[in-house]
Amino acid sequence: MAGASISKVQVFCHGLLVLITSLYTDIHNIPPPELFSPLIPQKVLRTYSSLPTPTQYPQWTGTPFGKWDYFVPDTWTSGFFPATLYEMHTRQTLCTENPDVAGLGKDWLQLGRKACDGLAALPGRNTQGHDVGFLSFAFLEELKINSKNETAIAVVNGFAADLANRFVPGAGVTRSWDSADLSLVQVIIDNMMNLELLFVSADLTGNNTLREIAIRHADTTMKNHIRPDGSTWHVVEYDAQSGLVVSKQTAQGYSDDSAWARGQVWAIYGFSQMYERTSQKHYLVTARRLANYFLTNIPQDGIVPWDFKAPLQDHKVPGGVRPADSSAATAGATALLLLASLEPDDLQAERWIWGAVKVLQKITELAWSPSWNSLLANGTVNWPNNNYLTGIVYGDYYFIKAGNELVRLGLASC
Ligand SMILES: *[C@@H]1O[C@H](CO)[C@@H](O)[C@H](O)[C@H]1NC(C)=O
Ligand SMILES: *[C@@H]1O[C@H](CO)[C@@H](O)[C@H](O)[C@H]1NC(C)=O
Ligand SMILES: *[C@@H]1O[C@H](CO)[C@@H](O)[C@H](O)[C@H]1NC(C)=O
Repeated sequence: MAGASISKVQVFCHGLLVLITSLYTDIHNIPPPELFSPLIPQKVLRTYSSLPTPTQYPQWTGTPFGKWDYFVPDTWTSGFFPATLYEMHTRQTLCTENPDVAGLGKDWLQLGRKACDGLAALPGRNTQGHDVGFLSFAFLEELKINSKNETAIAVVNGFAADLANRFVPGAGVTRSWDSADLSLVQVIIDNMMNLELLFVSADLTGNNTLREIAIRHADTTMKNHIRPDGSTWHVVEYDAQSGLVVSKQTAQGYSDDSAWARGQVWAIYGFSQMYERTSQKHYLVTARRLANYFLTNIPQDGIVPWDFKAPLQDHKVPGGVRPADSSAATAGATALLLLASLEPDDLQAERWIWGAVKVLQKITELAWSPSWNSLLANGTVNWPNNNYLTGIVYGDYYFIKAGNELVRLGLASC
């Protein structure tokens, strides 16, 4: 079980063996055991068996409460369930001492490969704009397992070309959403999550333009999307010719000057990946600022809200309290673990790890959901659209991934 061998907890940080003992002086700071519950393989398998034909993918739990709603492949979230199956495969390779936490004898890799079938035709013909990065996750995993897989190579390069085609040189960014007026370019902070795809494709093809586009996008975003306090705007609109900022707004947050939690997480994650890919110090400094805002603005109860600046009382929601977002919590924890694994400063690394563990612990207390199709509840898909108190496919994906990362870093056992 998680944390069962606390005295052996060790982490490799840049070749140095660092003992993270201070983390564990408080028994409440151990990773929650639900991260490695045998219920996880059971539920993931049940979801796999429930996929409609022709293939559709789960996105959120809707009505009746706790049941998945399914969406056609040409949807921004379609890659997360196949990527979840690949994470279960990873779990199997990490949890050899306790194989039932990954479902005894299940061939997750085969299930993941099969689940990708619905996605392979999307490059070159999809309506997902910049979100092709999210759609590529399972294919990126496949390439780590089999770098020669021709389908995965073609899909990754195809999605990368889709994204590169959206680059607007005058503004120095890839366009996130299509707009009727092409002289304006809307960029959402989520777009940081899609840059990894360009680096992988640049490595596969040797086409360095893809890498340059990713760097331009990250540098422009670093300049315009982050406030002095380290929080982020959701949407920045640019003039396509001059690159001047036309407006800064929200789409899914509480207000134009609020801090939508999932957007903050995408930013931490994206800038950490930029540092991983380039070793450029300014990306590390930026990721730290973003992570610092995230951790210092989590309220006393430790639960990640859907927007850090939304009022605590919310009369439109049943119960009247500001909803949490379990997906921002689990993606945030995974992002912090990535940042920790790259962090040259051991004290900072401890802070990111500690923060990740605490976020996971608190959200699991609130949102672990044995009776729902999803692993977690209390997700906020889109508050302005009245879509909250749900399970979310990417919340579950990052819950499993966070557990895997903790094991990989030596901070938990299965
Ligand atoms: C290659 O990867 C794709 C994507 O995961 C998968 O659908 C396909 O089955 C894989 N092919 C082989 C031969 O493993
Ligand atoms: C490199 O990628 C860019 C962006 O997709 C593309 O315009 C260009 O033609 C590619 N170059 C080569 C040599 O394929
Ligand atoms: C968590 O979800 C439950 C069930 O939907 C709900 O009653 C509760 O208000 C939620 N709590 C928060 C903080 O979102």
